[in-house]
Amino acid sequence: MYKLLFNLVFKKMDPEKAHHLAFFWIRLAASVPGLRSLVRLVLAPRDPRLRTTALGLDLPGPFGLGAGFDKNGIGIDGLSMLGFDFVEIGTITGEPQPGNPEPRLFRLVEDRALINRMGFNNQGSARVAARLAARPHTSSTPVVGVNIGKTKVVDEADATADYLKSTERLARYADYLVVNVSSPNTPGLRNLQAVKVLGPLLWDVRKKADEVTSRHVPLLVKIAPDLADEDIDEIADMALHLGLDGIICTNTTIGREGLKESAERIEEIGAGGLSGAPLKERSLEVLQRLRARTEGRLVLIAVGGIETAEDAWQRIVHGADLVQGYSAFIYEGPFWMRRMHKGLSARLRASGHRTIADAVGAAVKAG
Ligand SMILES: Cc1cc2nc3c(=O)[nH]c(=O)nc-3n(C[C@H](O)[C@H](O)[C@H](O)COP(=O)(O)O)c2cc1C
Repeated sequence: MYKLLFNLVFKKMDPEKAHHLAFFWIRLAASVPGLRSLVRLVLAPRDPRLRTTALGLDLPGPFGLGAGFDKNGIGIDGLSMLGFDFVEIGTITGEPQPGNPEPRLFRLVEDRALINRMGFNNQGSARVAARLAARPHTSSTPVVGVNIGKTKVVDEADATADYLKSTERLARYADYLVVNVSSPNTPGLRNLQAVKVLGPLLWDVRKKADEVTSRHVPLLVKIAPDLADEDIDEIADMALHLGLDGIICTNTTIGREGLKESAERIEEIGAGGLSGAPLKERSLEVLQRLRARTEGRLVLIAVGGIETAEDAWQRIVHGADLVQGYSAFIYEGPFWMRRMHKGLSARLRASGHRTIADAVGAAVKAG
């Protein structure tokens, strides 16, 4: 049914407008209490055996929504209603900014992929912090990750101050905090992945988070799939050395290999990060590399090209404590999480593991 809606309505619309429309409906449904419960009942039933713990957080399952869908934290409850086990909001920058000129989001339907150059369009750390502060907290409030990045107009040399501004305002509301240094759409941002720059940045963010709240806010870094393998190892070593809590792998790629879409169309779309199915292989490789280097001492959140329960399961058995998705949600629609949970539950049962946590890294341990 969603496939029909996608082909008849969304596919014909500008992708960003379709995003706003779909997100509006999700928030609208979530704002009507009876309807919210009903939708939740249908879309978010979960096998209690999928419950898991990571980063010191108790989660109803391992599958979260990746950053970028809800940049301003306006629809957390609606997204949780659709079955996501946790929601990562952002990227949020120190200052508000409009992002890049439109069009900036493109579908590659044949490839089950997206290209985006949104450029961190967001309302800025002060406004999002005020919104999070006003959120009522109940036992059913979903786990919320807060992903922060650099304001475009801020010089690379002053990046730390910008991240610290966001940390100061947002850390207390974050169940976990992510330093994003891997978007291809902010000029120079990915240079912050060099360990001699990244180490001090993460150290300062850690200190600032500890200053503003007595709770230990888990701190993670999100990395690009385009890093060389040696750089991935260096980041893993640095993360262990700094006592970071985890790594999110991966963001979108600047690569354009193996696409079915015509070279002319790809050329016409231009710059941006590619996400979805074509990212699957490299994201899994990065995860495997990180797992081999860190041997379970860091929490790894795998994201990139996860479409099916089998994809998610593969990441888990190769060392992912948690998984996330974004692009497949656009193509699969609101029943996606229901299918993922069913599939994960079946795989867990068939594997003989008692819990998801027991299955983490099982393929590595076995072989
Ligand atoms: C339109 C769009 C916007 C995104 N914005 C962000 C962002 O603001 N911050 C971030 O860390 N990742 C962002 N991402 C990357 C996703 O969180 C994810 O890492 C990536 O898309 C790979 O996962 P997927 O293949 O399941 O989409 C964005 C992705 C898309 C498609």
